[in-house]
Amino acid sequence: MSGEPMSPVSRPGQAAPARGAGARLGDPPPAALLDAGERLSVDELRARQLADLRATLRHAYDNVELYRVKFDAAGVTPDDCRTLDDLARFPFTTKADLRETYPFGMFAVPMERVRRIHASSGTTGRPTVVGYTDHDLSVWADVVARSIRAAGGRPGHKVHVSYGYGLFTGGLGAHYGAERAGCTVIPASGGMTARQVQLIQDFRPEIIMVTPSYMLTLLDEFERQGVDPRSTSLRVGIFGAEPWTEEMRREMEERLDLHAVDIYGLSEVIGPGVAQECVESKDGLHIWEDHFYPETVDPLTDAAPPAGQAGELVLTSLTKEALPVVRYRTGDLTRLLPGTARPAFRRMEKVTGRCDDLIILRGVNVFPTQIEEVVLRTPAVAPHFQIRLARRGRMDHMTVRVEARPDADADQRGRAAARIARGVKDGVGVSVEVEVVDPGTLERSVGKIRRVVDERPR
Ligand code: DLL
Repeated sequence: MSGEPMSPVSRPGQAAPARGAGARLGDPPPAALLDAGERLSVDELRARQLADLRATLRHAYDNVELYRVKFDAAGVTPDDCRTLDDLARFPFTTKADLRETYPFGMFAVPMERVRRIHASSGTTGRPTVVGYTDHDLSVWADVVARSIRAAGGRPGHKVHVSYGYGLFTGGLGAHYGAERAGCTVIPASGGMTARQVQLIQDFRPEIIMVTPSYMLTLLDEFERQGVDPRSTSLRVGIFGAEPWTEEMRREMEERLDLHAVDIYGLSEVIGPGVAQECVESKDGLHIWEDHFYPETVDPLTDAAPPAGQAGELVLTSLTKEALPVVRYRTGDLTRLLPGTARPAFRRMEKVTGRCDDLIILRGVNVFPTQIEEVVLRTPAVAPHFQIRLARRGRMDHMTVRVEARPDADADQRGRAAARIARGVKDGVGVSVEVEVVDPGTLERSVGKIRRVVDERPR
């Protein structure tokens, strides 16, 4: 290796330092950094999608009984897909289908070809199990590597991975993608927070991949150890696996002096790396459409939502072997938008929540992210909050518990509580009780955070 200095990465709000031939982080990446899929024109992309879609439908129909039964019941065969719009004639696939065929009933290849298995934790009922062939693992590493590059990662950067390793797809997905991108991986996994902070100081990674809620836990630990979080080597945070808001981005970028970008994915479709926000635009996530075909539907009527409106994201895999998914209902609510930084790929807006996160409080729809927006705009409170639901008489009641910042006095706490209650009333349209609690009271996340504690009788 030459002793050439590694490409620097700018801090947010700062002109990026010159790199190589004068390229800067906020500039569009040079063509040499884009892979073949990213260089397709829209016409080339649509042609490839149609060919791959037809092959996927055929592969699913021929090798998975559940698809055969469902297609037959809907009166469609893979040959009926002649245009991309014909996909809408095919039936949806749901998490319930995976549960019903537990563990391996939806695998489309013999087990000898399955090289790895992941599974969702499955808090209720059976977990959902997913499998990968060698080819699938390679595609996965490619899409995560592409995501890391879109976030500003370059060969030679060190990537600290705090997503959990194990059956969860976060850790290993990020890991092999970072290796594929030519980065040096620090496989920290979740937990042992004090040690993670030590490792970040000693190993000096440029990039961290972690859930936003665990990043907040790490931030507190930096401060507890007397380390200024803005002084660390971290330049880019690739945050995902749970919803987070623009307000949270601002909080992270200010407190950590890094670029905070969003990564999206789900195990049923592959894991992290289905879609990624580009650091130069931070305007939603480009869906890597050469591998995952997106649609949105109205979650209640199953019809396409009116143009420009949010709906439930539905994804079809185009290149997967072990577990092809056809029109998989993700449960995630978003809006599809035209591409920007990668013009051929459509974007999805930051996910505001899952259909099943929706709280209906006295007839009003509330997502935890709406509470997050209000809490993070309020002075004197920390970004740690929890939503408790209880039944009082015949009425549902929501309490937002939020932590005071360490330096907040009783007056400031009182004003913060009133301001949050007013913000939720004005912005969301419901009355909630707000409790400002002492710093360090609420449970901290080491992975995906549980925002809502539902104490209502079933
Ligand atoms: O969470 C995969 C992943 C790991 C994505 C690391 C990004 C980073 P699952 O455990 O199967 O897989 O959970 C998938 O998490 O349907 C969304 O509801 C939610 N989710 C994932 N990424 C985001 C995101 C991984 N960026 C479920 N924003 C998905 C909002 C997200 N929600």
